[in-house]
Amino acid sequence: MGWLEGTAAVITGGGSGLGRALVDRFVAEGAQVGVLERSAEKADKLRAEFGGTVVVVAGDVSNYADNVAVVQQTVAQFGRLDTFVGNAGIWDFSTRLVDIPEDKLDELFDEVFHINVKGYLLGARAAIGELAKTGGSVILTVSNAGFYPGGGGPLYTASKHAARGLIAELAFEFAPKVRVNGVAPGAMLTDLRGPSALGLAGTSIASLPLAELMENFTPLQTLPEPADFTGHYVLLASKANSSTATGAVINCDGGLGVRGVVAVAGGLDL
Ligand SMILES: NC(=O)c1ccc[n+]([C@@H]2O[C@H](COP(=O)([O-])OP(=O)(O)OC[C@H]3O[C@@H](n4cnc5c(N)ncnc54)[C@H](O)[C@@H]3O)[C@@H](O)[C@H]2O)c1
Repeated sequence: MGWLEGTAAVITGGGSGLGRALVDRFVAEGAQVGVLERSAEKADKLRAEFGGTVVVVAGDVSNYADNVAVVQQTVAQFGRLDTFVGNAGIWDFSTRLVDIPEDKLDELFDEVFHINVKGYLLGARAAIGELAKTGGSVILTVSNAGFYPGGGGPLYTASKHAARGLIAELAFEFAPKVRVNGVAPGAMLTDLRGPSALGLAGTSIASLPLAELMENFTPLQTLPEPADFTGHYVLLASKANSSTATGAVINCDGGLGVRGVVAVAGGLDL
């Protein structure tokens, strides 16, 4: 029996990368799933693969009505909502402040924060009524950039720090009925795109040499697959296994927090 048997979840950005791996894992654990996904192509692919078993809403996390729609359609189909996973995001391709064209600052700020921060806020607001009925939880995807500099430029890093702020504040506000936690993965090969304000909406993080980066910079010296992060979400979503956790963020970035000041090459060789 799966850890999420009899529950229903909404996952934003479920069309590719980590979100898609979460859809697969939540279904495998017995959950019924609704997805909010901006890409019409990815939404169609989900529908084709899952038929009616996954509710798919094509829409934008930065639009409140779209968040309401995915919650309502998920509850209409499955009768309940236990978990809201805020996950859809974009990356700024580590663009430094001085490299952002001055005439793009406003547009870029709005684009990154509307998706990465406002999207989480609107999703939590749309879901809280249903989550309170089931004693459910919110889980937000953070990033190593929610803790350390250099995993993004100032906009991405600030947006992921803001996600941690939302986790703390909402965990406080939604208690005791609804838990709010986060998962902070490190780099993985996905379709993570850049902002259109920088002309990077069609560019994916998969175009970068991430394996080499992770091998050289993280103590665990490996580039994980999106699926490798899904167990952390299952744990937090499972009331039986994490009923005491709220306001927590699981760091699963390959050990950046214990990196120390020496080269990681080699490591413990036993
Ligand atoms: N890939 C990495 O190295 C990495 C590392 C740490 C954290 N993350 C975080 O993981 C999360 C998932 O990203 P991913 O790497 O799987 O990328 P991804 O692009 O493969 O998945 C994100 C999904 O969200 C969708 N999406 C984007 N904007 C949207 C919007 N406005 N409304 C609805 N859907 C939207 C995309 O179409 C895509 O399907 C993000 O929050 C990202 O910041 C990624």
